Amino acid sequence: MFQDRLQEAASRVQALLADLLGAAVQDDEIARPEQLLSAMRHAVLNGGKRLRPFLVLETARLLGGNEEAALRVGAALECLHCYSLVHDDLPAMDDDDLRRGQPTVHVAFDEATAILAGDSLLTLAFDIIADPRCGLNDGARADLVLALARAAGLGGMAGGQMLDLAAERQAPDEQAIVTLQAMKTGALLRFACEAGAMIAGTDQQDRQRLRRFGELVGRAFQLADDLLDITADAATMGKATGKDAGRNKATLVSLKGQDWAEAELDRLVAEAVALLEPYGEKATVLMEAAHFIAQRKS
Ligand code: IPE
Ligand code: IPE
Ligand code: MG
Ligand code: MG
Ligand code: MG
Repeated sequence: MFQDRLQEAASRVQALLADLLGAAVQDDEIARPEQLLSAMRHAVLNGGKRLRPFLVLETARLLGGNEEAALRVGAALECLHCYSLVHDDLPAMDDDDLRRGQPTVHVAFDEATAILAGDSLLTLAFDIIADPRCGLNDGARADLVLALARAAGLGGMAGGQMLDLAAERQAPDEQAIVTLQAMKTGALLRFACEAGAMIAGTDQQDRQRLRRFGELVGRAFQLADDLLDITADAATMGKATGKDAGRNKATLVSLKGQDWAEAELDRLVAEAVALLEPYGEKATVLMEAAHFIAQRKS
């Protein structure tokens, strides 16, 4: 069931993203430079698990939120995520040549284009949510814009990336790693889950529960990524592996070991699944998603 729903979410979001990244100039835009648009399309329309849009769609579905709005917010979040990958791969950051099985944007184009493609995808994310075609009222769209800004910026993903780079020079302790991972990866996954509740306009209790679910899933997600960086190969992952050790990057896996990481993944999934028990069978797909995120092989 989970795999089918993930596939369905991926193909729906792919179609919307292809449309949003079409050649047609939008109201108030002046022109869409061809090279920049090609680089953005390379960054976005090149596969990817589409886990974040899936989580927006499924949490919204769980709580009865508008599906079209969830699809648009999911597409916005995916643009923001893809921007974070383009910049993460730059020579000044992780310096990676391979992403989703293809050359990274700065390799396929050039560094300046990759920087601008990232900038434009970040901006496009907010454009998509703020656009009235999103189908939510003004207040709900403004709340989502604010929440995404907080998740993506100084106190969220970008801040976490700063701490992550600093950790290559000075080894952080366990708590510092937990904090930086909650920022660099957790914040966007938490937003994905909380957004479903925001789109549905539910009460604080549902929103808090989904937010906490997103936090746990976010922790599990990065822990699995760090584990796969050691145990998987580039062909399966579509990106280089062994990078963390190569860059002397401290992760929870390097600090506490693989056995600990596997046990911690089980613990995080159990806690995340338990949070959704009040929703009964309606939450099955999200419960399966939590398992997948922890046990994924790519
Ligand atoms: C990779 O994210 C970056 C991290 C936050 C570890 P994903 O594993 O979701 O990458 P795609 O979108 O499927 O390529
Ligand atoms: C990336 O973490 C987190 C982002 C905000 C993009 P990593 O640097 O570990 O992600 P990968 O392994 O390159 O996908
Ligand atoms: Mg990185
Ligand atoms: Mg990286
Ligand atoms: Mg990694």
